Amino acid sequence: MKLAQILYSQGFGARRECEGLIVSGLVTVEGRPCDDPFAEFTPTGLHFTVRGESWPWFEKALIVLHKPAGYECSQKPKHHPSVMNLLPGPLRRREVQPVGRLDEDTTGLLLLTDDGALIHRLTSPKKHVPKVYEVGCKHAVTPEQIERLMAGVVLDDSPIAVRAAACESIGELGLRLTLLEGKYHQVKRMVAAVGNRVEALHRSAFGELALPADLASGQWRWLPGPEVLYPA
Ligand code: URA
Repeated sequence: MKLAQILYSQGFGARRECEGLIVSGLVTVEGRPCDDPFAEFTPTGLHFTVRGESWPWFEKALIVLHKPAGYECSQKPKHHPSVMNLLPGPLRRREVQPVGRLDEDTTGLLLLTDDGALIHRLTSPKKHVPKVYEVGCKHAVTPEQIERLMAGVVLDDSPIAVRAAACESIGELGLRLTLLEGKYHQVKRMVAAVGNRVEALHRSAFGELALPADLASGQWRWLPGPEVLYPA
């Protein structure tokens, strides 16, 4: 693939803009400067820099973001900035989208990708991808509440009960809850349905991927591919 085409595919602007970056000497490939927009490279596994910033080539982008509170997952946020503001221009230009949504006040693991088929696979209720939430509750968590969350509760938008795939208390006011679906406000509504109230919500895992301990709030990183989300 030609270098200008490579930059274009990774969200560095229109073809002309990409050619401009290259002829201006702002691009290196595998550590060497390259000012020829038509130089050919094999993109898979390629590392390049633009204005000194390092980029790996990925046909489809898949990233994990440690979402802070105070950001909306919507592309057109109403009351708070969008999580897109936390990403660099090339990823925004590639139109990566959140895989499902976290509420504005929820923190933790948010996946984003420009792979529409992957979003569908990961959010389809039929696929049963587990999501783990750490919940801070207003009232002490009782064994009965845990039993009811595991047995299933009926929410107001469907007569079919939703149940936690796993649920355990963490201290007096905490819960760790694993869900296989991703309904609107699901954790908050389930916890309310058993007579408690969510005061803090953090997603700690999605599929097999745990939020990396060294990924600070507001930071993102590349994932090598969707296989990190599935059992080996
Ligand atoms: N359940 C909720 O209630 N909110 C979230 O952000 C995620 C799951």
